Amino acid sequence: MNSKNFLSVYDFSKDEIYDILLRSAVLKAERGGKNSCLEGKKIGMIFEKSSTRTRVSFEVGIVELGGHPIFMSSKDLQLGRGEPVKDTARVLSRYLDAVVIRTFEQERIETFAKYFEKPVINGLTDLYHPAQILTDIFTVYEIKKRDLKIESSSQADAENIIKNLKIVYFGDANNMANSWVGLQAMLGFELVLAMPEGFEINSEVKKESEKKGGKFSVINDKIYAAKNADIITTDVFISMGQDEEKEKIDKLKPFIIDDNVVRNAKEDVIFLHCLPVHRNEEVTEEVFERFSSVVFEEAENRLHVQKAIMEKIF
Ligand code: CP
Ligand code: NVA
Repeated sequence: MNSKNFLSVYDFSKDEIYDILLRSAVLKAERGGKNSCLEGKKIGMIFEKSSTRTRVSFEVGIVELGGHPIFMSSKDLQLGRGEPVKDTARVLSRYLDAVVIRTFEQERIETFAKYFEKPVINGLTDLYHPAQILTDIFTVYEIKKRDLKIESSSQADAENIIKNLKIVYFGDANNMANSWVGLQAMLGFELVLAMPEGFEINSEVKKESEKKGGKFSVINDKIYAAKNADIITTDVFISMGQDEEKEKIDKLKPFIIDDNVVRNAKEDVIFLHCLPVHRNEEVTEEVFERFSSVVFEEAENRLHVQKAIMEKIF
């Protein structure tokens, strides 16, 4: 493991992931208290795609940890006019202490990390959204711990909650699906991907998961997939940068999370969505609104979990 980067969930060990989840709960409870673990650190935020949650939660998190965020849209950088990633990285490493990057190909962030030589955090690529996936599992852990009235905050109890979950992801084989595959390989819950025939997880993602002993099933029947699910989740059908692939929507339409899916899941099922949501595309408006309090808690949790990630990295 390269201990200073967070380019995918594989950059942390299982124990480190649990440390982050448990620490996120503490940071959430202690929000507003003094924490200066990033004092004096200048952290760049290079965004080549739009963002509401990732941008603001990282910026606020950096400020709350005593650091100084510097937001850079690639449109305003020479990067956006074709300056090579490796040159940008070598220059910025002389000014900054770390960067958060949102970009396209995973190789782009990997190249940046190779030349930057200081911590690089993935704020979403075409392949992975690792800060989001740790937030999602933290959100589930927090709800289940409360519902099961578990007082202790031990790793053993957290593992026990998480490894017994059935998580079903509905929709596109995109960066969120890939991130669930990666997380499953690290934490070992049951993962089902409900997607149309012909939709497949990226072969590199599959290979990485298999190397770690990961397992998941792909099911083309959404109701069968939903049976006894503890968690149901989805994401937009068309991700950023895929605007020419609109014909995908027709194939994905039957995989909408609707009341029928919810009825086939466990009674206490939790619905997650990383946002932004396209109502009546990947989830019905009614289901989304019914579960929206959890979804907005999930959005808030980005802040707490990313603070725990940054603490771990520094
Ligand atoms: N979930 C998420 O990453 O949202 P943003 O695109 O708004 O950052
Ligand atoms: N799959 C989506 C996630 C947005 C947070 C995208 O990449 O656009």
